[in-house]
Amino acid sequence: MGTIISTVNMKGGVGKTTLTVNLATCLAQRHNKRVLVLDLDSQISATLSLLSPHDFAKLRKKKHTLSYLLENAIDPNPWSKLNVDDIIVPQICGIHGLELLPGDIELYDEYQVSQMLHQQAIAKDEQEFQKVWDDFERVLIRQILDPVVDYYDFIILDCAPGYNLLTRSGIAASDFYLLPARPEPLSLVGMQLLERRIAKLKESHKNTHPVKVQLLGIVFILSAGGLMGRYYKQVMKRVEDDFLPEQLFNQSIPMDVNVAKAVDLFTPVSVAMPNSGGSKAFMKLSDELLAKTTVKQELAAVT
Ligand SMILES: Nc1ncnc2c1ncn2[C@@H]1O[C@H](COP(=O)(O)OP(=O)(O)OP(=O)(O)O)[C@@H](O)[C@H]1O
Ligand SMILES: [Mg+2]
Repeated sequence: MGTIISTVNMKGGVGKTTLTVNLATCLAQRHNKRVLVLDLDSQISATLSLLSPHDFAKLRKKKHTLSYLLENAIDPNPWSKLNVDDIIVPQICGIHGLELLPGDIELYDEYQVSQMLHQQAIAKDEQEFQKVWDDFERVLIRQILDPVVDYYDFIILDCAPGYNLLTRSGIAASDFYLLPARPEPLSLVGMQLLERRIAKLKESHKNTHPVKVQLLGIVFILSAGGLMGRYYKQVMKRVEDDFLPEQLFNQSIPMDVNVAKAVDLFTPVSVAMPNSGGSKAFMKLSDELLAKTTVKQELAAVT
């Protein structure tokens, strides 16, 4: 069964998408893994890092995006023709094993979700609307992935900043979450807030269907060196005091202009510029990620 990992941080612009896309690429290219990237963010940054806008527009015209699957989950249509594997794009950037479930700029209608859940609550004579909502949230992304989860070694979900329905549902479906962070004070606040939210998510499901997600690790996305470097080290020390050593990745990701340039080519940096510093860091990070998931899964199996 594939390992599902959500890349998440409530803070925007910290490097979630860059990490998702590049780790997925390294896992496929360097480690011969079958990897699916699922874009859960209506900014479609992961999609547009791996496909040209032209190719994306063609897929969208045919309704070959996550939107179609979400709509069907919210308001099931017995005539619906497309399955998840019809929508997944194989062989991304020519890399064997790297696949994408494209996102969309319009993912779901919040009003439609509330109305559907309200009707469900009435039909079930359920007094607690919150319970109906929690159940829906828990299964939404899980149901979409269920038909393909055995096919992949890894499924990586690129979450939007904040903590919306799809992020919560993605986390609930995941084995692990990955937390990219810049070593800045506000980033630390973001980490603590996220930890609290996930604890609450687990609490709300613990008596019915326990959510098993655990922190795979914090990945630092570094900025410039020099004097600022010393300051970042102090902030990183604070994180080290707050988290266990196994909750931190040793490998950090440097700021490298090639990483940003690669986005312009709709190609991950490890393919476009394999010898760049950024590319090498993502490769080493993918080695560490593999080791970490193996250890954590072996531990979970014996406990
Ligand atoms: N290691 C890096 N080197 C250079 N540029 C980077 C690096 N990591 C991320 N960036 C750039 O920083 C910007 C934000 O990164 P990214 O989109 O991955 O963040 P995000 O957390 O997914 O943002 P959002 O919250 O909006 O989804 C992008 O322009 C990206 O190209
Ligand atoms: Mg993003």
